[in-house]
Amino acid sequence: MTEDGLPEVDWDSLTFSFTETDRMYMATCKQGDDWGQGKMQDFQNLSLSPAAGVINYGQGLFEGMKAQHAADGSIVLFRPLDNARRSRDGARRLGMTPVPEEMFLDAIMQTVRENSRWVPPMGKGALYVRPLLFGSGAILGVAPAPEYTFLVYVSPVGPYFKGGITPTSLRVSDEFHRAAPGGSGGVKAIGNYAPGMVPSQMAKSEGYSEIIYLDAVNHRYIEEVGAANFFCVKNGVISTPELTGTILPGVTRSSVMQLAESKGYEIKEEKIDVDYALEADECFCVGTAAVISSIGKIEHGERVVEYCGGDVGPIAMELYESLTKIQQRRAPDQFGWTVTVE
Ligand code: PLP
Ligand code: COI
Repeated sequence: MTEDGLPEVDWDSLTFSFTETDRMYMATCKQGDDWGQGKMQDFQNLSLSPAAGVINYGQGLFEGMKAQHAADGSIVLFRPLDNARRSRDGARRLGMTPVPEEMFLDAIMQTVRENSRWVPPMGKGALYVRPLLFGSGAILGVAPAPEYTFLVYVSPVGPYFKGGITPTSLRVSDEFHRAAPGGSGGVKAIGNYAPGMVPSQMAKSEGYSEIIYLDAVNHRYIEEVGAANFFCVKNGVISTPELTGTILPGVTRSSVMQLAESKGYEIKEEKIDVDYALEADECFCVGTAAVISSIGKIEHGERVVEYCGGDVGPIAMELYESLTKIQQRRAPDQFGWTVTVE
């Protein structure tokens, strides 16, 4: 710790990785009951039954959002209510007791407030907020756990993709899928992520940053980029895959759509054939962690396409500038998206 109580963090070298902070929030709830009073505690390991639903059957979900220092000196969150609502929808899909919106927001606020010294200086990164909801009660049969835990921890983070703003190279997978109709792709179920690790590592070992997943029915339409939503631009029209239940409804996705529309762009939510994307003028992916990341190259089978000469695409750049200005209150927040952590 430094003399003024700030953590010894090299803010200029932050990556998207875990750093232990001071405090975390925790609440529990028996199945069928209402959530009890949550409480803040020092960051610590959990004590769980080996039969806990989450570690046996993956009954759990997570959320992700960022707290940042803003130009007005405050610490701000971006659209946290949307995360609260998505976690509620996910809880229902996974048979867990949803956390009421107000409680979710209060937990986020308290956790950010009590870890405020870990919020990076403006523009150097963000405090990533990770709410978890999972079946902590013991259960042997495949059924909803008898108890749930809601927990929020935080970690200061830098860019999600190595290389920061440098456009990423992505590989379209013909072998792996992320989600199938009727499954859990549309919610942030923890179980959606482990199956993507090996494909992602395989792509990384060959110089790609991530996988682009195609739909599991036609093996043809773009769904998502690992843990971010996909966009492409052709002849000035911005397209993103429509939400069919297999794609995560990203908060950044919805923000980028509104922002682009307000700038006069035509936006289409539609099926995006991988061949259409390969012919596009520009592609990018968006998410809380990824923000807006330009895609420099996509490989699909024998085809390798480079966009914008490998430079950051102009529309990705324009939207990135506008979005991050709003998020850090460097520009008027015309949509009312930022929320001050009091
Ligand atoms: N898609 C997946 C699979 C994700 O895990 C995420 C990350 O949250 C996103 C998209 C982007 O969503 P958001 O913008 O809400 O962070
Ligand atoms: C996010 O963007 O918040 C994510 O959840 C991405 C990831 C680290 C899983």
